[in-house]
Amino acid sequence: MKDLRPLTKYLAGLGYGSRKEVETAIRRGRVGGLEGCGKGVVGPFENVTFDDEPLDPPPGMVVIMNKPAGYTCSRADGGQLVYELLPPRFLARTPALSSVGRLDAPTTGLLLFTDDGQLLHRLISPRSETEKVYEAVLARPLEGHEGEAFASGTLMLRGEDKPLKPARLEVTGECNARVTLTEGRYHQVRRMFAAVGNHVEALHRTQFGPLTLDGLADGEWRVLDSDEVAGLA
Ligand code: URA
Repeated sequence: MKDLRPLTKYLAGLGYGSRKEVETAIRRGRVGGLEGCGKGVVGPFENVTFDDEPLDPPPGMVVIMNKPAGYTCSRADGGQLVYELLPPRFLARTPALSSVGRLDAPTTGLLLFTDDGQLLHRLISPRSETEKVYEAVLARPLEGHEGEAFASGTLMLRGEDKPLKPARLEVTGECNARVTLTEGRYHQVRRMFAAVGNHVEALHRTQFGPLTLDGLADGEWRVLDSDEVAGLA
């Protein structure tokens, strides 16, 4: 008789159900790949399947999403939530999955999620050197002084008492700009353009450190592989 308690605990931690629900799933044959396991089924559960699918990654998982407009980066809010775009079991994982910082509801593009608390804090720390790249569509033509203001290291946002770290602005059209920054303050890009007398009409994040949205359509997501996670550290 195999001791299935470690596997049950592991699967419950990955959000496949409560321990009781997982026990039932095992009894009903929904969990496969146990044949090679000895009496003590203690992991790493590499060959285990659930409903004939490989298991989700263990803790340390990072998910990349191409966030659509209109979704909020919150677990409980009135409107549509980014978490609704992920499998419900991801929300039942322990440790919990959180978005790496936030994108405003109207902002689209690259959003990360992780259950790795240390990685999360490193990436959202004000000391983080990780570059984030945004494409902005502006209400009014650029005037030519904005790049210098963004790069100055002295630009102040309304209501704040610490200047922004230098950021890069590339003009990509009369009313279009690419902004590269390392911080992640509340509504930062929108407030930066407001500080230089403009208004952001649309905002899309295309890059987070080495990661891009390559191959991910609006609303799609995928789990990062271990090399991609290592590249974020
Ligand atoms: N800056 C913003 O203004 N909004 C975002 O969602 C991200 C960066």
